[in-house]
Formats: sequence, C-alpha cells, structure tokens
Amino acid sequence: MALRRAWLLPLLLAATAALPLLVAAKRPTLRFSNDGTFKIIQLTDLHYGSLSFRDKRTTEVQTKVLEAEKEGMGLVVFSGDMVTGFMEYVDAALDKMVGSGGNQSGWFEQQWKKVVAPVHNLSLPYCITLGNHDAQADLDGRYRFPLAPQIVQLDIDTGKHLTLTQQGPANITGASNYWLDVLASNSSAVAARIWVLDSGMKGCDGDNESWGCVAADTAQWVAETAATLPPVDTHIAYLHIPPIQVLEVWNNESTRGFKDEPSGCSQVDSGAFAALRDAGVQAIFFGHDHDNCFYGELDGVRVGYGRKTGVGNYGPPRDVARGARVVLLREGESAADAETWIRNEAGKREDDQPSDAENKVMFEQGECGTPNSWGEKLVALMG
Ligand SMILES: *[C@@H]1O[C@H](CO)[C@@H](O)[C@H](O)[C@H]1NC(C)=O
Ligand SMILES: *[C@@H]1O[C@H](CO)[C@@H](O)[C@H](O)[C@H]1NC(C)=O
Ligand SMILES: *[C@@H]1O[C@H](CO)[C@@H](O)[C@H](O)[C@H]1NC(C)=O
Ligand SMILES: *[C@@H]1O[C@H](CO)[C@@H](O)[C@H](O)[C@H]1NC(C)=O
Ligand SMILES: *[C@@H]1O[C@H](CO)[C@@H](O)[C@H](O)[C@H]1NC(C)=O
Ligand SMILES: *[C@@H]1O[C@H](CO)[C@@H](O)[C@H](O)[C@H]1NC(C)=O
Repeated sequence: MALRRAWLLPLLLAATAALPLLVAAKRPTLRFSNDGTFKIIQLTDLHYGSLSFRDKRTTEVQTKVLEAEKEGMGLVVFSGDMVTGFMEYVDAALDKMVGSGGNQSGWFEQQWKKVVAPVHNLSLPYCITLGNHDAQADLDGRYRFPLAPQIVQLDIDTGKHLTLTQQGPANITGASNYWLDVLASNSSAVAARIWVLDSGMKGCDGDNESWGCVAADTAQWVAETAATLPPVDTHIAYLHIPPIQVLEVWNNESTRGFKDEPSGCSQVDSGAFAALRDAGVQAIFFGHDHDNCFYGELDGVRVGYGRKTGVGNYGPPRDVARGARVVLLREGESAADAETWIRNEAGKREDDQPSDAENKVMFEQGECGTPNSWGEKLVALMG
C-alpha cells in the first residue's frame, strides 16, 4: 500500500500540473460585444531593442493607450516592427568593445518579453504580423539570417492564453499569414473576418530594389482561401508594408490625416490589394512609414496607416504624438465605414482631420522608396 501511495502522489501532482498547460493552449474567442461593436487597436512600429531608456518609454506609451482603450477591447494587433532587429548586431559590437564576447544569444527573446508585457499584464487578446525589422534579428546569436517562422512560433509558444497568432502555410511566401473570425454578438455565426498578412522585408516578386510585399503566391492563397470561407458583412486586413496603392490613395482620393515622408511602399504590385478587395475586404491598415498617418478610400476599400507607437527609430513628426489607431467595427456594417481614431501617448483621443487638399505635397507618381537605411546595410554586412 505504502509503495502504491508513494507512486500515486507524483502522478496526481503531474496531472494537476498539466492542467494549466491544457488551459493555456486554449485561444481566446473573438466576438462582437452586446452593443454590436468590436474594437481593434493597432500598435505599430514599437521598435523595442532601441536602447533601454527608449524601450522604457515605449512601454509607457503602450500601457497608456491600452489602459485608455481596454474597455470593450476586442483585439490588439501588432502590425510589425515590434523589434529593431539590427540593434542586436550593434549591441554585440558594443559588447565586444568592452570584452564580453558579443554573444547575443537570447537577445530577441528579451525584446519579445518587453513587446508583449503590457498586453499580458492587461490580459488582452492579441496577434502579430511581422515587419521588416523583426526578421532582421538572429534568434540563436550566431549571425545566421533569421527565420520568420521561428519568430511567429516564439509568440505562439509564449503567448499563453492570449495570443491568436498563427503560422501561415509553409509553401507560400511569408510566415505570419492567417485570418481570424469574429463571432456575432448573439449567435455562433461568423460576423467579421480579420486577415493578418506578412509583407516580408525587402524584395518583392523578383524586384530586389523594392521593399517587401504580400507576395503574389500569398495573394493567390488569400483569393483561394477566401473563396472557401463563409462571406461576412465586416472584413478588414492588417499588414506592415503599405501596398503601392497607398500612392494613389493620397494623390487622387480624398484623405484624412497627414503625409510627412515618401512612402516605403512595395514598388511591385503583387496583386495583394486586388486579391483582398475581390475577397470582400473593406479596409486595409499598415504601418512602416513612421511619419505618415492618413487614410482614404480606393475602389471601395479604406486604405491607411496606423500611428507610430514606439519611441525607438525615427518619427512620428515633431508636432505629432505617438499613439495607436483604434477601429471600432459594427456588426452588420462595412469596415470601410467603421469609426476610427488615434489614442495618443497622453491618453487623449485624436480624430483624423481632413488632409489639406489645397496644399497636398503629392507622392511622385508611381514611386515607392527603396530599402537603403544603414540598418539594412549593417544586416547585409553581418549576414
Ligand atoms: C444581443 O442580445 C442582447 C440580449 O438579448 C441584446 O440586449 C442586444 O441588443 C443584442 N445585440 C445585438 C447586436 O443584436
Ligand atoms: C551564448 O550564451 C548562451 C547562454 O547565455 C550559451 O548557451 C551559448 O553556449 C553561448 N554561445 C557561445 C558561442 O558562447
Ligand atoms: C506588469 O505587472 C507587473 C506586476 O504588477 C509590474 O511589476 C510590471 O511593471 C508590469 N509590466 C508592464 C510592462 O506593464
Ligand atoms: C500548398 O499546399 C497546399 C496543401 O498541401 C496545396 O493545396 C496548395 O496548392 C499549395 N500551394 C502552393 C502555392 O504550392
Ligand atoms: C535578387 O536576389 C536574389 C536572392 O538574393 C538573387 O538570387 C537574384 O539573382 C536577385 N535578382 C536580381 C535581379 O538582382
Ligand atoms: C491619379 O489619377 C491619374 C488620372 O486618372 C492617373 O494618371 C495617375 O496615375 C493617378 N496617380 C497615382 C499615384 O496613381
């Protein structure tokens, strides 16, 4: 008997210890609130890993906007550049200078803890898509080119019960390609859909001079997959690098918000915009250009930027507060008509003002910028 009981106890302990793990694996269900709304907040370009005093302030901004908007929060979307990946190499070089060997193993994980700490503290469901600077980091500290699926997996494995991040199919370009369904407030019907897409780093469908894009094969996957899914009334997408259509939106359409720099959009039209539009997507939001924050409508699709959230790297413009874009979806209504605003770092709500049409400084026709920052060069050098 004594022997059997001795065996039983560890078994029981093991069984109860396994319970939280099983619970942790359960992902949150997204659902419209009783008042028929679903709130999404987009944190973009946080740029953690940009010196600790800046990271500390980024956490303060993130906490401020999340605290102010957490009431009725449906989903937090991190739309890329959560981490300034190339700073790993800078940190390694500094380490070497002080003689500590430059071993940066665990660098990315350290940054990642900072990225998700506020959403974990506030227990908010969230998901990520990768930006060009996320994929610059090296996950094993040996200067091998990073693998985007590993970053996605890091979030899936450490996001506990809060992350909705998924791995995209392995046979298409990019890692963070997936969609999330939002259920109706009063039934188990799917009422809204959110596409989360990976726009890579640089190079788009064979053009190495272009910024990254949602590649043609990924666009085709969106089209094919969307055709098999039940249609929804409310349909939105998030990605990091603007599609080239952003130029046309600013130059030819009526817009709200401001443009303060050329766009680092994808020079090649991979067909992603058309695929999303034809799939019924009504709004596409992105980040990447820290000094641009506007939206307009093209072919019935609202296209626009979030607000630069992080303190690292450059931007937003001097007279503009950091913050985050909120989109309030309404059940049964198009995402193109959804109420949207910026919650800024002071905790205040800013409504995007009509852009000054008379004095618009246009994008040069058809031109997106090229990836040429010193960060890109540094990574090319180390890689
Ligand atoms: C859902 O049901 C509740 C309770 O019956 C009701 O108060 C609410 O208005 C309904 N919401 C919508 C969006 O129909
Ligand atoms: C770097 O540090 C990690 C732990 O901090 C260690 O596991 C690893 O072996 C180290 N790598 C080298 C090349 O020293
Ligand atoms: C998270 O909560 C813990 C405990 O309250 C606190 O010490 C920590 O500073 C918080 N971190 C962030 C990033 O909010
Ligand atoms: C990827 O794999 C899926 C499932 O095996 C297949 O149906 C699809 O055609 C493949 N797509 C590409 C672009 O190869
Ligand atoms: C673009 O880059 C790829 C991968 O480095 C290379 O194989 C290809 O030759 C390059 N294409 C051009 C046109 O430079
Ligand atoms: C704006 O519209 C004009 C006339 O339709 C067109 O020629 C031009 O290419 C458009 N601009 C952009 C940036 O697409």
